[in-house]
Amino acid sequence: MKKKFYQDFKIGILGGGQLGRMLLQEAVNLNLNVQVMDADAEAPCKNLVSTFTIGQLTDFDAVFNFGKNVDLLTIEIENVNIEALFALQEIGVVVYPQPEVIRIIQDKRSQKQFYVDNQIPTSEFVLINHKSELLNYQNMLPSYLKLGKAGYDGRGVMAINDTKDFEKAFDAPSLLEKKITFEKEISVIVARNPSGQISVFPIVEMVFEPQYNIVDYLISPAKISLETEKMAIEIAKKIIIKLNMVGLLAVEMFITKAGQVLVNEIAPRPHNSGHATIEANFTSQYAQHWRAILDLYLGSTAIRTANAAMVNLLGEEGYNGIAKYQGLEQLLQMEGVYPHLYGKKFTKPSRKMGHITIVENDFDTLKQKIKTVKNTIKVIA
Ligand SMILES: Nc1ncnc2c1ncn2[C@@H]1O[C@H](COP(=O)(O)OP(=O)(O)OP(=O)(O)O)[C@@H](O)[C@H]1O
Ligand SMILES: [Mg+2]
Repeated sequence: MKKKFYQDFKIGILGGGQLGRMLLQEAVNLNLNVQVMDADAEAPCKNLVSTFTIGQLTDFDAVFNFGKNVDLLTIEIENVNIEALFALQEIGVVVYPQPEVIRIIQDKRSQKQFYVDNQIPTSEFVLINHKSELLNYQNMLPSYLKLGKAGYDGRGVMAINDTKDFEKAFDAPSLLEKKITFEKEISVIVARNPSGQISVFPIVEMVFEPQYNIVDYLISPAKISLETEKMAIEIAKKIIIKLNMVGLLAVEMFITKAGQVLVNEIAPRPHNSGHATIEANFTSQYAQHWRAILDLYLGSTAIRTANAAMVNLLGEEGYNGIAKYQGLEQLLQMEGVYPHLYGKKFTKPSRKMGHITIVENDFDTLKQKIKTVKNTIKVIA
């Protein structure tokens, strides 16, 4: 790939959801020529590109036929047809992240094996092929059962606390891992370009809603010790190097009560935990993804204000139908508050409909603003 011609490349993105949409926003700034494929004719990217192709991302022919028209192909979701990516590489299409990397990551089982093979700390696990095997692993309880493939946004994950839960277990290739009693859950986003330059974003912390134990909001930078920060960064760098990966990699980790850092899972693309970088950091995760796969200089990831937060805007309980955004106008009156609506026509309970970034130097004021934001905007129908 010749660097000086990057603006002439035809670029394809597999997946047209909100991550693709935010990649497109940054592609405009770099004057990139991008087309998108998604199975959903109403996907968030559909009106934003001149060529929007409708096709199944897991279908060989659909991916191959879309990819053969571009010079550089990338992804915004990892559940894509890998064989088609290898076939495209053979005819000269550059594919970043590389197909062999996506192959390891798209199955949580091979992901876990990769950690073991490379001495990356992770929770203890066993592979399960059929739910009857669970009876052999009562010593693993309490635990989490995770589908190997095609689970996302918590849909392929279930808590197995006692043998009664075996009944409802997935009956497909899965992995059973020990439940970690964690102090904090963090995410480290790292990027690498083909020249080998590596950059790491400030660590983000997921803050949980104590009653329901669901992620409530994210803050950047994470409030963790320097020592933990160093360990987490070393692990993230080690993973992207061992994968020999080009692109952006999000590494979700647990910090245990004992101060250990364990890898939960990784994603080879922009990530929910990196949304705030659009306003809060000198280079956003989306800009960094393009820079990485185009072999451009990786920009400064430093945060512009002392603190920032990201609140997910989820479909409100009890509403199904055409989305309406209640309270948006009040939100627009708040300083340092940036709403992002994903353009999804229909809302349903807990669907990711958008997010709100808050930049604020003072941490106590930030926490206050998070509360106000959460009470102000609602997605209803
Ligand atoms: N071994 C574990 N111990 C404790 N909590 C866990 C464990 N595995 C998963 N969890 C909890 O469940 C959440 C979802 O798990 P995971 O990240 O593996 O699934 P996912 O479906 O890929 O989720 P998402 O798409 O939201 O990142 C984690 O963020 C964490 O809060
Ligand atoms: Mg996760």
